[in-house]
Amino acid sequence: MAASPYCVWLEYFERRRGVELDAPLQAPFLERPGRAALARSLARFELGESGDGARIRGLAEREVGATYARAVKLFVAEEAQHARWLTILRERFAGERIDSHWSDRVFVVLRHTGGLRREILVLLTAEIIALSYYRVLALAYDDPVLSAACERILVDERGHVAFHEATLGRELARMAPPARGAALLAWRSFVAVTASVVAFDHRKVLALAGVTQAQFARVTRGYASDMCRNIRTLYNFEPPATEDEVRAAALQYVRKISGFTKPSAANAEAFEQAVDAVADVSRHLLDALVTSAPQKDRETEAAKARARRAAREAAEAA
Ligand SMILES: [Fe+2]
Ligand SMILES: [Fe+2]
Repeated sequence: MAASPYCVWLEYFERRRGVELDAPLQAPFLERPGRAALARSLARFELGESGDGARIRGLAEREVGATYARAVKLFVAEEAQHARWLTILRERFAGERIDSHWSDRVFVVLRHTGGLRREILVLLTAEIIALSYYRVLALAYDDPVLSAACERILVDERGHVAFHEATLGRELARMAPPARGAALLAWRSFVAVTASVVAFDHRKVLALAGVTQAQFARVTRGYASDMCRNIRTLYNFEPPATEDEVRAAALQYVRKISGFTKPSAANAEAFEQAVDAVADVSRHLLDALVTSAPQKDRETEAAKARARRAAREAAEAA
């Protein structure tokens, strides 16, 4: 039986397990304007980072397999660790614990009304919101413990985004191209709405950091639009690259070098011609290449690449 593409993720999470927060917890806390707003904001994220992950672990076991389920268990443990660090921060900022918040209830309902794909899409939304939030949080208040916690959580969250992206890519690959496009579009719209709501809900923290709500929403939307858009290796896979994959890569290439996601009417013809030409050349290249290396499996290679990237980023940040 082929090894699970999630072996690399299991190794990734196991290597990071137990790495505690390196923060100067004894450093004195200095009262500054905005402390109470920050404490309330921290309490909401502390609640969001909590949760036992029982449902996703069950779905992971049933729909993907034991290795993925074990990786998910370690991912949930990392989130629980974030919740503990946020408790430390919230107490440092003299904030009250909350047991419920409407934003958390909405996320739970959305996650629990579908299968694994829905769960991953909602989780990914929370992860990329977290990428924007912890960056802003670090700027909102000058405190060494806050800075160290944000820095460490950001490294973990980047790993989580890559981990879920691997699963999402696998789930989307099973869908027909029009349905896949519609699902991604719907998800990006959901991210856009969520980012605006979170920006408003945490507007005082954004203001302390000198970040506008529009900037927060724009940066968060940017993370979502980068997702599942990378140009990937297409050679020497079993099954071989399809026409759709070659064309999708060509489209990404033309988008990248032109700087247009969707060209204007004046540029549409030149844009389409370029996509056709790049797809044509790419197809010829894939047909002409020869190798004695064994054919590769897409899922395993994509998972390896993401785990390598996450590990590299974690090492760079250490
Ligand atoms: Fe987290
Ligand atoms: Fe996360």
